[in-house]
Amino acid sequence: MAGNWKMYKTYDEALKFIYEVNNKLPNKDVVETIIFPPAMLLVSLVKRQGDNLEIGAQNMHYENCGAYTGEISAEMLRTVGVTHVLVGHNERRRYFAESDEDVNKKAQQALEHSLSPVICFGETEEQYLHHNTDNILRRQVHAALIGLPEDKMDKVILAYEPIWAVGTGKTATPEIANEKCKLIRSFVEELYGKDTANNMRILYGGSVNPDNIKSLVDQPDVDGALVGGASLDSSKFIDMAFKVANQK
Ligand code: 13P
Repeated sequence: MAGNWKMYKTYDEALKFIYEVNNKLPNKDVVETIIFPPAMLLVSLVKRQGDNLEIGAQNMHYENCGAYTGEISAEMLRTVGVTHVLVGHNERRRYFAESDEDVNKKAQQALEHSLSPVICFGETEEQYLHHNTDNILRRQVHAALIGLPEDKMDKVILAYEPIWAVGTGKTATPEIANEKCKLIRSFVEELYGKDTANNMRILYGGSVNPDNIKSLVDQPDVDGALVGGASLDSSKFIDMAFKVANQK
């Protein structure tokens, strides 16, 4: 169960959230719970995260260091206690020109520095209406995963986020979410074989909330959720984490 805060919450609002969820989340052995706050909040939240919450970054650069104004490296993240990083979120692909190749390089770099990349895939509404989803997903998954070290694939998490469902209130039906997560799993199998594909955690994201999360994660190929808007509210966040915990 992952919450992507995007560009929301000030320092004070973030601390309030952390105090409200502290000691109220399900045990990490039952469900892995992660938030992805804006970069400037990472250090403060890592210090206060408690036992059952992990902290991830929303982005990082694929180089170790260099003259890349505004960027953050994997090593910078890891050494302050960040454990996960979002890679290839559709907002990064659309607004910041992140290419399939960038996504692959970032995933490689994350794994080299012991971070878990949460790699996102999804089609636009136009592609969906033109029945192009499967081709798009195949291209994105192959491009993102090609060449990643097989022995580190257990650290990788994937997320299916149809762009038409993100921030729109138009959640994919549980059946569509399951069908596409299953398809993504089959693309993982093409590259890394059945065992890796079966063990891969694949999340669904796009207008997930406390009312619909149970029906989504109940699906056999949906292993969890990547939540935007509803993850900003601490009581909704706790509620959703327990719904995933009871389901899986
Ligand atoms: P919403 O839950 O607000 O639709 O956002 C989904 C998302 O983009 C999570 O990464």
